[in-house]
Amino acid sequence: MTKDLEGSRILITGGAGFIGANLVEACLRRGAGRVAVLDCLTYAANPLSLAWARQQKAFAFHQADVVDLPACKKILAEVHPDWVFHLAAESHVDRSIEQPLPFVRTNVQGTASLLQASLLHWQALPQSSQDRFRFVHVSTDEVFGSLEQDGYFREDTPVAPRSPYAASKAASDHLVRAYGHTYGLPYSMTHCGNNFGPYQFPEKLIPLMILRALQGKSLPVYGQGINIRDWIQVEDHCQALLQVAARGRAGQAYVIGARNDRPNLEVVEEICEVVDRLGLTAPGVRQSRDLIRFVEDRPGHDFRYAIDPAKLERETGWRPQREFSQALHETVLWYQENQPWVEECEKSYAGQRLGLGLTSPGGKSS
Ligand SMILES: NC(=O)c1ccc[n+]([C@@H]2O[C@H](COP(=O)([O-])OP(=O)(O)OC[C@H]3O[C@@H](n4cnc5c(N)ncnc54)[C@H](O)[C@@H]3O)[C@@H](O)[C@H]2O)c1
Repeated sequence: MTKDLEGSRILITGGAGFIGANLVEACLRRGAGRVAVLDCLTYAANPLSLAWARQQKAFAFHQADVVDLPACKKILAEVHPDWVFHLAAESHVDRSIEQPLPFVRTNVQGTASLLQASLLHWQALPQSSQDRFRFVHVSTDEVFGSLEQDGYFREDTPVAPRSPYAASKAASDHLVRAYGHTYGLPYSMTHCGNNFGPYQFPEKLIPLMILRALQGKSLPVYGQGINIRDWIQVEDHCQALLQVAARGRAGQAYVIGARNDRPNLEVVEEICEVVDRLGLTAPGVRQSRDLIRFVEDRPGHDFRYAIDPAKLERETGWRPQREFSQALHETVLWYQENQPWVEECEKSYAGQRLGLGLTSPGGKSS
């Protein structure tokens, strides 16, 4: 992998967000020649996530909106990437339930602009560079809808999105396939399960529960906590994305998962155990699990996601390297040790319940 990355020029949209910032670090640490970020810095971006990257000579940051076609063209001309990783998105299902339109704008229109700019960039490349170019579209397993107790998402699972977020990502997937089919743009598409690890904005389940447990606040579990998600540590996801760019076939989709599907309640209980084991139980709390409260379920809450990553493993040799319990332990420590980063997030989000219904027909989510 290091050999494929050495000297490569890489553009990462959404690089100031959770997965993007981890991908930036992965590329820089593995010797990429140039790593540029295109990000407009919504509420979900945290400038501190790129603090280390900003000290590296190979790093560049471009503040721009992915919907803005002239800006995308200009940045592509400047960065001249071999690989584009497209992660910029509105990413939180609960916010998409409150305000769907920003999801359509960024996830659909933004992908269209970036595709158009990438196509023009690719068409102008000499043949040898054209062969190496890849547009890696980072999609989600949520485009497949919901599973019952059995079965797994695979690349040929029919698309059946059920939240505004999932629908906007599925629409962007269609555009990517269309650019590949119609114009020959070499793309690969990935559908990953639920990520966790450093730099994740604390509106998402794992960091929200960690921070609330550390603060001795109630731990709101949707419904009965029986909904199942397939969890992967973010660095394993980043490694998979790099493998897809280097070894994946153009025009192909890959589902990414670590074979780790478990009910939400089990995840929250394990976070509580880690907090207690580390001696971080909040003052006045006997054991962290006493803080768990069952709250009104998310509207249209998908029951189960589970992923069979056999194609990715077979074609690229990728294997997840991080065991769930150990990675969760490290994640709890990370949030406990990175207070300034947490405080930066708290400027735009105070941990309130999101996503019980439509709050505004338009408006901005940032
Ligand atoms: N988090 C997960 O578990 C998960 C799982 C599968 C797929 N994905 C996908 O991976 C990608 C990244 O997810 P994440 O969790 O890191 O998201 P995130 O919300 O943490 O970060 C998104 C980033 O995109 C930027 N952004 C948003 N709108 C933009 C715009 N119009 N122009 C430029 N930048 C913009 C934000 O500023 C932010 O830095 C998304 O496309 C998401 O759909 C996420």
